[in-house]
Amino acid sequence: MGDPLMRVLGRRAVPNPYPEYERIRARGEVSRHPLGLYLTADHAVSRAALCDPRFGVGPATQRGGIDWQVVSGDEGRLVHPLEESLLVLNPPEHTRLRRMASPLFAPYAVRELAPAIEGVVARILDEAERCERFDLVGDFARRVPIQVMCELFGIPHADHTTFVRWGTVLADTLDGIRTFGERRAVRGVLAEMTDFLGALLEKRRREPGDDLLSRLAAAERDGESLDDRTLLALTGTLLIAGFETTVNVIASAAVELMRSPDLRAMLLDDFGDVGEVVEETLRIEPPVQVLLRIAREPVTLGGVDLPADAMLAIAVGGANRDPAVFPEPHRFDLRRPNKRDHLAFSAGGHYCLGAGLARLEAELALRHLFSRMPRLEPAGEPRLRRTRNIRGHVSVPVRAGDRR
Ligand code: HEM
Repeated sequence: MGDPLMRVLGRRAVPNPYPEYERIRARGEVSRHPLGLYLTADHAVSRAALCDPRFGVGPATQRGGIDWQVVSGDEGRLVHPLEESLLVLNPPEHTRLRRMASPLFAPYAVRELAPAIEGVVARILDEAERCERFDLVGDFARRVPIQVMCELFGIPHADHTTFVRWGTVLADTLDGIRTFGERRAVRGVLAEMTDFLGALLEKRRREPGDDLLSRLAAAERDGESLDDRTLLALTGTLLIAGFETTVNVIASAAVELMRSPDLRAMLLDDFGDVGEVVEETLRIEPPVQVLLRIAREPVTLGGVDLPADAMLAIAVGGANRDPAVFPEPHRFDLRRPNKRDHLAFSAGGHYCLGAGLARLEAELALRHLFSRMPRLEPAGEPRLRRTRNIRGHVSVPVRAGDRR
């Protein structure tokens, strides 16, 4: 049967990681992996660990064995957004940066973005509608978050495809870089992206606008503001975190809606249920499958003693299907009362900053897609991503079907 952790995070992505999480959970609330790592797929333990300040995050080299070392001399110039941002900072630096960025993603600020998001979705659907068949991922789900984020940052439309390319390469680094080819690709993207965002930042400092980058550049707290390198890392993180996750929720939800006539009928009958569809999708197919934490001191968790510096792998994909919290966990159930208790957006201090924006984007994307194409249907086999930690589809061929 093999080692469940290696099957989930090993070299090749497994098409269905969920039985592996069950095997991890069957070993106990927390178990020790032969490699020295501790594992949990238990919902209560996962949430407790994510909210426990005795667990911290660390540099990616510690977190996932990621080695993206740039050529010596480049360190000052290249910014790897995922390696130098909120995701890898602990308090007090994390708290300081998070306070600066949070107001831009507060519920009232996100609500104001609805018309812009609807405009983006409508434009993308206008194009898709012209084709008899299209790819639900490449031609729709992927384009929505990218165009929304570019719009929020005031990035010209002509540059959007470049962002798709950068986002894809950098998101793959979440799985670790193993070959020289991958390292070269990442280094190239980092150089281009740092230069592009650096020039954009310079422009916004000269002529501030109403976009997110201008507002982040102007953000001040207790007399402090963000330096350029931090700003670049934060901007890159927002772009990538916003691209590579939301796309998967939109596509996974649409696949489920095409698969289940009852679910689709329920949605078409009342689009007010779209938020529930998004929430249950986040529970059953979380785009981020595993989170890592490091014990900053000795901690007893789920009855197991973890020494200081121990690494804990939290299987979100398993916690979200823990039968103790979600009965019949493998069933997509819109009427599940506690579906919002999922951990798809993490919990505690690193709770996803863009959760409100992601929910709104996914809801609007699905609402408009199915109201325009109520009989949307598969036109080929969906293909899953190659990545291990980010779960979703790389392509889902569809046809619009009868519009009436
Ligand atoms: C469905 C879509 C999304 C999912 C599933 C998701 C998931 C996550 C998860 C699991 C974390 C926490 C990582 C950890 O605890 O170590 C996180 C953090 C974060 N996310 Fe999201 N995310 C989504 C969309 C977005 C969007 C749209 C944005 C921004 C535009 C965003 C920005 C961030 C940022 C900045 C962090 C770091 C927060 C911190 O460490 O304080 N995410 N996200």
